[in-house]
Amino acid sequence: MSSESREIVVTSALPYANGPIHIGHMLEYVQTDIWARFQKLRGHDCIYVCADDAHGTPIMLRAQAEGVTPEQLIERMHQEHLRDFSDFGVAFDNYYSTHSEENRFFSEYIYTQLREAGHIRRRVISQAYDPKAEMFLPDRFIKGDCPNCGSGGQYGDNCENCGATYASTDLKNPVSVVSGETPIEKDSEQYFFKLEDFEDMLKAWFAAGHVQTEIANKMNEWLDEGLLDWDISRNAPYWGFEIPDAPGKYFYVWLDAPIGYMASFKNWCETTGHDFDHYWNRDSETELVQFVGKDIARFHTMFWPAMLHGAGFRKPSAVHCHGFLTVDGQKMSKSRGTFIMARTYLEHLNPEYLRYYFAAKLGPGIDDIDLNLEDFTTRVNSDLVGKLVNIASRCAGFINKRFDGKLAPRLSNETLNQQYLEAADAIADYYENREFGKAMRDIMALADKANQYIDEKQPWVTIKDESRRQEVQEVCSAGLNRFRQLVILLKPVLPQLAQQAEAFLKVEDLKWADLGDNLLDHAINRFQPLMTRIEPVFIERVIEATKKDLASEQKIQQGQSDSPHEAIAAEINYDDFAKLDFRVARIVGAKRVEKSDKLLQLTLDIGSETRNVFAGIAGAYQPEELEGKLTVMIANLAPRKMRFGVSEGMVLAAGGGDTELYILNPDAGAKPGMRVS
Ligand code: 2FM
Ligand code: ZN
Repeated sequence: MSSESREIVVTSALPYANGPIHIGHMLEYVQTDIWARFQKLRGHDCIYVCADDAHGTPIMLRAQAEGVTPEQLIERMHQEHLRDFSDFGVAFDNYYSTHSEENRFFSEYIYTQLREAGHIRRRVISQAYDPKAEMFLPDRFIKGDCPNCGSGGQYGDNCENCGATYASTDLKNPVSVVSGETPIEKDSEQYFFKLEDFEDMLKAWFAAGHVQTEIANKMNEWLDEGLLDWDISRNAPYWGFEIPDAPGKYFYVWLDAPIGYMASFKNWCETTGHDFDHYWNRDSETELVQFVGKDIARFHTMFWPAMLHGAGFRKPSAVHCHGFLTVDGQKMSKSRGTFIMARTYLEHLNPEYLRYYFAAKLGPGIDDIDLNLEDFTTRVNSDLVGKLVNIASRCAGFINKRFDGKLAPRLSNETLNQQYLEAADAIADYYENREFGKAMRDIMALADKANQYIDEKQPWVTIKDESRRQEVQEVCSAGLNRFRQLVILLKPVLPQLAQQAEAFLKVEDLKWADLGDNLLDHAINRFQPLMTRIEPVFIERVIEATKKDLASEQKIQQGQSDSPHEAIAAEINYDDFAKLDFRVARIVGAKRVEKSDKLLQLTLDIGSETRNVFAGIAGAYQPEELEGKLTVMIANLAPRKMRFGVSEGMVLAAGGGDTELYILNPDAGAKPGMRVS
């Protein structure tokens, strides 16, 4: 190991604050966290920062759908994200937000520097506009028929059916997803970053090996096609930072998002008393190592280095891209229950199972990683429980019971110890080069060796021979010392298990440099199971719960949150209201509807007549308890034909979910047929 300490800033991509973290996200955070923890374990100064990506139209729209302000939404998401990450063992030194004063400062500063240096130009362009919502529409907010294959419901940038890419103006029958209105074209002036000014710089930067070859090749193709100006502005209404001296224009979220790395780091410097410039000056000798998904490689390897360079800052030392997560060989799917939220996973499974499995599958490339659920179960049970923990559990029993918890003053089998130490350098190189799969393979091979050694020595047999007592203590102590080394080697991946193992072995925070030591004549604690097996039923529970998550997420997307405090609907005028004829009704009959969990069939007496009405209240009431009750119905609603019969009106009920819908009761004195106003 190099004795020189490195100064490294590490980042993962900033997750959008418009939704929860899922296990696809988690792949990246686990990859980065393992790498950052490894650096710290080796004794380097490594600072891992991240933040929520808190701006942009989707956040604005989601806040509207939930009936909260964007500030409230991003605050809640920040808490939720941070909790998910920390429960998954992702140990940021700082987790901040792009909606922060530091980020506003750096966004304005970088923009101003770029403008002063002549890298910004203004141009009038024509864009899709929603005349009803009075807003310009980004591509993803227009849907219509694909101009190529005609398939309906396609977004304004590309067709999910045939893969064609096009401009939103090419869509047939376009509608705004905000209002349903047909968009019109409208001119406005926008601000562009002249990426072409950085062509030579980028070419040299790619040639210098700061990104993986596959990515450099792709970016060079784009460079060869010629670099287009990048539109960094958006018109109001927009949720973000207003551009200085440009009222009504906002920085596009992708301008201020990567600057969020700096903002989070600056915030860390402020709280810890570090010098920001030392890390971000153009000639800084510290490292900046960034992990991102391959889908956002272009932002991080073209726009971002160009922005940094143009504004006088250092560029990343490395941008490491990774592939996507698939589950059982397919894209994560909501309907199959494989679009698993981090929180749902955590409710049923130990996060370190997944950290280990990801590590076992991760390499330095951009290939997708498959979470095969059967393989996941087998591998975790066999490697972590069957090999790793097994070494400790089979040795600890003898030491605890027969030797008063004391390890031997000397160990048998120095050869195995040597093999471990020799393997450690290669394992360190694997970690350094993001070859985590190879590191796990070698570590498990070492675990196999320790188990074989114990199998050969058979302490459970020799313990019966009093004259060989010392041998048993030495064998089991050697086993536990090898276990201690395995814990160090796996500590970047399994921090929680490592902590429990440290408590069991009665040792302080283990470091890589401790690999060469042995615990001799040392008292240990009683052994507690460090990890239990995954049972297939746990996985089934995750899948089932995930299918339920989907239903509530869909409601939020459609603006019908599960929360009892929904947004107030759009204003109506008095005439609209006066059209509704509300009447007091007595429920004279109520029965279940066959093949429906939700509906009850009600017979309502409204004085002049009786009505047949289907109401979705079966989750909250037994039919018997309703009979005789008074309620309120809309009596002039056009009859609606349903699968079970015709519904002649609607009962008023409070609530949103299927099981929580409560009918309204008029106060005493009301009689069937009375008008309600
Ligand atoms: O793709 C995404 O999820 C973005 N929120 C990533 C931003 S990374 C950085 F640039 F902020
Ligand atoms: Zn198409």
